[in-house]
Amino acid sequence: MAIGPFLFSALVLLPVVSAHASCNTVDDGYTCFPHVARNWGQYAPYFSLASQSQISPAVPEGCQITFVQSLSRHGARYPTSSKNKVYKALVQNIQENATAFNGEYTFLKNYTYSFSSDNLTAFGELEMYDSGVKFYNRYESLARFNVPFIRSSGSARVVASSQQFIAGFQATKKNDRHANHAQVGPVINVILEETSSFNNSLDPDTCTRFENSEVGDDAQATFANIFVPAILKRVQTHLPGVTLNINEVIYLMDLCSFDTVAKTTDASQLSPFCDLFSHKEWVQYNYYQSLGKYYGYGGGNPLGPAQGIGFTNELIARLTRTPVHDHTSTNTTLDSQPSTFPLNATLYAEFSHDNGLTPIFFAMGLYNGTKLLSETEVESIEETDGYSAAWSVPFSARAYVEMMTCRGTKEPLVRVLVNDRVVPLRGCDVDHLGRCTREGFVRGLGFARDGGNWGSCFT
Ligand SMILES: *[C@@H]1O[C@H](CO)[C@@H](O)[C@H](O)[C@H]1NC(C)=O
Ligand SMILES: *[C@@H]1O[C@H](CO)[C@@H](O)[C@H](O)[C@H]1NC(C)=O
Ligand SMILES: *[C@@H]1O[C@H](CO)[C@@H](O)[C@H](O)[C@H]1NC(C)=O
Ligand SMILES: *[C@@H]1O[C@H](CO)[C@@H](O)[C@H](O)[C@H]1NC(C)=O
Ligand SMILES: *[C@@H]1O[C@H](CO)[C@@H](O)[C@H](O)[C@H]1NC(C)=O
Ligand SMILES: *[C@@H]1O[C@H](CO)[C@@H](O)[C@H](O)[C@H]1NC(C)=O
Ligand SMILES: *[C@@H]1O[C@H](CO)[C@@H](O)[C@H](O)[C@H]1NC(C)=O
Repeated sequence: MAIGPFLFSALVLLPVVSAHASCNTVDDGYTCFPHVARNWGQYAPYFSLASQSQISPAVPEGCQITFVQSLSRHGARYPTSSKNKVYKALVQNIQENATAFNGEYTFLKNYTYSFSSDNLTAFGELEMYDSGVKFYNRYESLARFNVPFIRSSGSARVVASSQQFIAGFQATKKNDRHANHAQVGPVINVILEETSSFNNSLDPDTCTRFENSEVGDDAQATFANIFVPAILKRVQTHLPGVTLNINEVIYLMDLCSFDTVAKTTDASQLSPFCDLFSHKEWVQYNYYQSLGKYYGYGGGNPLGPAQGIGFTNELIARLTRTPVHDHTSTNTTLDSQPSTFPLNATLYAEFSHDNGLTPIFFAMGLYNGTKLLSETEVESIEETDGYSAAWSVPFSARAYVEMMTCRGTKEPLVRVLVNDRVVPLRGCDVDHLGRCTREGFVRGLGFARDGGNWGSCFT
């Protein structure tokens, strides 16, 4: 017990040491500079929340896991091509117009902006490989004898993430002398296209009114107008001659993460962009990113959770081994065939985006304890009941839906972990370990089973 505070202070005192050692670990993810890097919203690299979980993530005593559905976000990536344009223009503006580069801004004078776009960085590949290793180790007793069914959303970085996960899983299996080596390795069984004419339950794009909604952008703009002006003023003082707008200050902050995850293969060196901002400002930035996800894709957007209905109904089908019943974002052609939608697999691993995962978490009611987020004041993780972008959908995020049979209970039990944090289920008779019976869990998912408000997508 007395060890906690000691470890914490040791961590704070030794950033220089950790900067030179690899701090990307299979189990805990990215543990360098936690006071900075865990405040990058969805641009934070995956980190384990096991130590923050009020319920132990270990398999409960007397229980055996019988089924796992994992759902992952892709690993760390380069900026999207549209962001690459605006980031590059920002650096050009600074380099052309600044008459001086004061203090920690000196590096910008000779900084060369050059990133690939959209795809995983080498570190992002490593994160996903490690995710496959971790999945194998965590569910070893099942992984030894079962080949996971793999489904991926269609963009290159998500497919590449699936492949890295498979490589990590299979390499671990090869080294496990108790595994069934006669089994072939997992392959990507299904790729769901990311187009507006394809029903993709991992990343829907067919709900017209949702696609046109600006609730998330508006919430972010409101909060940016509150916290950014003070930062903007300071940045301009350090870069005389440069005039920036609110969004450009956010871009400068984004570059801290993008530069860090691209720079080294283990993201062990913090980018100099990170030094331009204080801890308090990172907390504000982190909250700003949570607002974007919550009001864009989660409970703050009337049609956010609707995007997660299709997958939730697929999950029910798998948990109960009964056909999918859904009229929202699922593809009925694919979901009615055992080759593309088996109901008898033990392990399922699926891959998507932050904007695919967030609606699913909300459709499942995982964050139903979170009250509408304030658009004007930072709320702590306690105030948001455990919800934030960084805690739910960092790069290489992974949620595990576990089903287990336990001594003394007839009906199987279900629980959900998001980045190793047990998120106690809602809408059912939840026990002290965050679990409900399968029957209770499925009954509680009435929102998804009834098609929720998907009908409002087109009216
Ligand atoms: C330099 O500043 C001027 C005035 O704000 C602006 O019009 C110009 O676009 C800036 N240069 C670059 C490369 O952005
Ligand atoms: C930037 O590059 C120039 C020319 O190569 C060099 O003289 C100068 O020292 C560099 N400045 C910094 C801050 O690295
Ligand atoms: C991203 O990866 C895909 C698949 O490997 C490749 O076709 C594409 O050219 C890459 N894009 C960039 C910008 O490198
Ligand atoms: C459903 O999936 C099938 C098989 O991949 C595909 O041919 C079809 O275009 C998809 N339809 C929709 C609406 O997603
Ligand atoms: C795609 O989804 C729509 C509902 O949004 C549904 O009407 C249609 O039948 C689905 N198509 C397929 C192939 O699943
Ligand atoms: C699942 O059922 C299919 C037939 O529909 C069968 O070919 C396959 O071997 C079964 N898989 C498992 C893991 O039992
Ligand atoms: C979560 O809240 C929504 C909105 O009130 C509700 O429709 C849904 O049933 C709840 N889900 C669970 C699992 O409690």
